[in-house]
Amino acid sequence: MQRSKAKQISQDEILMQQYNINSLSQMNEDFFKENGRYQSYFIQTFGCQMNEHDSENLAGMFDMMNIDLADSMEEADIIIFNTCAVRENAELKVYGNLHALKKLKVKNPDLIIAVCGCMMQQDHVVDEIKKRFPHVSLVFGTHNLYKFPELLLKYLSGDSKTLIDVWDIDGNVIEGLPSARRYDLKAFVNIMYGCNNFCTYCIVPYTRGRERSRNPEDVINEVKDLARNGVKEITLLGQNVNSYGNDFDNKVSFAKLLTMLNDIQGIERIRFMTSHPKDISEELIDAVANLDKVCESIHLPVQSGSTAVLKKMNRHYTKDQYIELINKIKTKVPNVALTTDIMVGFPGETEEDFLDTLDVLEKVQYDSAFMFIYSVRKGTVAENMDNHIDESVKKDRFNRLLSKANEIAELKNSKYMDEIVEVLVEGFSKKDKTRLMGRTRQNKLVNFIGDESMIGSLVNVKVTETKSFSLNGIALD
Ligand code: SAH
Ligand code: SF4
Ligand code: F3S
Repeated sequence: MQRSKAKQISQDEILMQQYNINSLSQMNEDFFKENGRYQSYFIQTFGCQMNEHDSENLAGMFDMMNIDLADSMEEADIIIFNTCAVRENAELKVYGNLHALKKLKVKNPDLIIAVCGCMMQQDHVVDEIKKRFPHVSLVFGTHNLYKFPELLLKYLSGDSKTLIDVWDIDGNVIEGLPSARRYDLKAFVNIMYGCNNFCTYCIVPYTRGRERSRNPEDVINEVKDLARNGVKEITLLGQNVNSYGNDFDNKVSFAKLLTMLNDIQGIERIRFMTSHPKDISEELIDAVANLDKVCESIHLPVQSGSTAVLKKMNRHYTKDQYIELINKIKTKVPNVALTTDIMVGFPGETEEDFLDTLDVLEKVQYDSAFMFIYSVRKGTVAENMDNHIDESVKKDRFNRLLSKANEIAELKNSKYMDEIVEVLVEGFSKKDKTRLMGRTRQNKLVNFIGDESMIGSLVNVKVTETKSFSLNGIALD
């Protein structure tokens, strides 16, 4: 099999963390003797699936220390905020929450407050935490998350008020970490970390480092393990999955990886995100068209419809190239659902540029779109661009974008009226417990009348009503 050039964590390092976990576990036993209960933790995760995945690893480490999951943040002995830096709003939320924790720390001086994740990879954030939140105990970043037990032990055995350890260098590909995964029908599987694209607005390459792919055999083993635990649907994750394997000596393409995963028994559906329009290959489109488990659903962030703005964003495609790509996908995968990320208010965006974005929406007819207002990120190229857009103009464009996207989503859904769709049944409907819910291969949410025994399987549902964000129906099986 191919070997990734990315450095794997050494066996010694794993043993070292195991040693730290054992020491912490012993301390927790002492805590039990004194207090009649084990210590407890609470993790609040912000941001994307990359952070969710990291939080599962942290939870796995706590499990090995016998530290219990607390029912609420207020009851926990250790609180971790796993933070996101992608937009200012996400950061402000973390600062607000940290501020609120001051009271808890006064009440319980032994409370351990840790902050980690993407925000911590930025020097100015760490400075801010030192200045404004001295009640924070531990600060670490995305590249040294696997060292959490060592840092916690160091903090507990030392006398520093705040222990800070953030690494600049790219992280290793780390296999074999404990993970507390809630086995569900669906699971996310990371296939690569980091990003090389440096879109000029985006902080991710600075917080997550360069692209590192996991070895195919590690991914395959993880998916087999998930299948053994009852998982039916996997979503493969990477900032740009089409670059998968570029860092291998002998490249294994993403499409090839999909072909290998398609053979795993028990897995019924495979999804993936995100694809960068500049890198999506003919081979991948064919894989979506031909592999039976790979769902007809592609997330293809356009960001802007204006060729001029796309150039300034460093996206490496034009409006016409994007539309051409979409048309090719629609021809090869006729029943495909297309989703996207779109941003308004990038520096210098004119009304004409914005109209180009609306035009792309009109031409592509997205099934759904994640929409954002541009937010300046410190240290990115766009930060120093001219003509930052007025907040009121951004908001106005955002509202117009939102109403257009919603109108199209409703229209797209209406096409499913009276159709029979295949639904992976996840459980009871959230709003109406007498109905079941699940998703179609196109990732459409369906609430329907059916029998409880259908939960966990694929059933055919006839659509009887369509809405902007969901479908209603009745099971046929
Ligand atoms: N790797 C993925 C997603 C990265 S972040 C991709 O390339 O598509 C998810 C989305 O957040 C991006 O697609 C973008 O639309 C949005 N985003 C990133 N940086 C932003 C910023 N500075 N302001 C507003 N939205 C941003
Ligand atoms: Fe950010 Fe662009 Fe990388 Fe996506 S591809 S994570 S938007 S730099
Ligand atoms: Fe994800 Fe936010 Fe980091 S979107 S990669 S958690 S900056």
